[in-house]
Amino acid sequence: MSCKASAPGKVILFGEHAVVYGQPALAVPVTQVHADVEVSASSQPSVWIEAPDINLHAELNMLSSDQPLAAVIHNLFFALHIDPFPSLNVRINSTIPVASGLGSGAAVSVALIRALSSYTGHPLSDERVNDLAFEIEKLHHGTPSGIDNTVITYNRPVYFVKGRPLETFKAGEPFFIIIGDTGIAAPTKEAVGDVRKLWMENKSKWEKVFSKIGEIVNQARTMIEQGKTKELGKLMDQNHALLQEMTVSSPELDKLVQAARNAGALGAKLSGGGRGGNMIALVTPETKEAAAESLTKAGARYVIITKVE
Ligand code: MEV
Repeated sequence: MSCKASAPGKVILFGEHAVVYGQPALAVPVTQVHADVEVSASSQPSVWIEAPDINLHAELNMLSSDQPLAAVIHNLFFALHIDPFPSLNVRINSTIPVASGLGSGAAVSVALIRALSSYTGHPLSDERVNDLAFEIEKLHHGTPSGIDNTVITYNRPVYFVKGRPLETFKAGEPFFIIIGDTGIAAPTKEAVGDVRKLWMENKSKWEKVFSKIGEIVNQARTMIEQGKTKELGKLMDQNHALLQEMTVSSPELDKLVQAARNAGALGAKLSGGGRGGNMIALVTPETKEAAAESLTKAGARYVIITKVE
């Protein structure tokens, strides 16, 4: 017998960073990329992990307990009171680029929790999967908001406010987003930590910036739900300017943002933690190919066009 589970990537449309301070944010799943986990019985009395994308072929016992995959397995078995650990092979494959803002870590956690809990006869509700994945996010990202694990667990567009029950949204008219990757690995933890330092130095200044972002998020949600998607471009540009002020953009991100705008995108911004990783732009069926070409010429490591509906 074997159990398989899969989880998508994600992209933040509006509100990253400010969401850590209680403001809302909008995020959508990106199903073109995914993490896949298969758990099967082993003839060896151990948990053997194969994760070829990160060149990991190891027995669980040999990994430090804070190694990300080991931490998921230990936490899950502890939560499910599984002791001793069963004999298992765990195979993990992911097409989600690491440290690029697409939620690779959270997607692996979610798929791993689902496959292992089903295999051991304890299938979990989405709420429980989300809580367990959030525990892992906290281990690796310091003070995350929980948006990544939430959008990935539920695999739906999410209007997220930290600590509040899940709220999803639906586009009145489908629209296209292009994602461009700078190719620069950018651990979210550092950017989040640097914004925290800024905030500690001048809370009232930065809280004003965070609430401006919150207003943009609420306007964006209304536009999306009413199908007025063209209006989103301007809001993306405004959100990007505030993220620049927060020091989380970079010359490479700004270059891709400009390249997308030059190619006719209606607006563009960095997405996720920033400093490197991804940017997104609002494109139409008529401008999406030109935007993809322009991003590639400007140095994007890859581009993904995704439809939000
Ligand atoms: C990372 O995808 C989004 C951030 O807002 C951090 C978080 O919400 O945990 C930068």
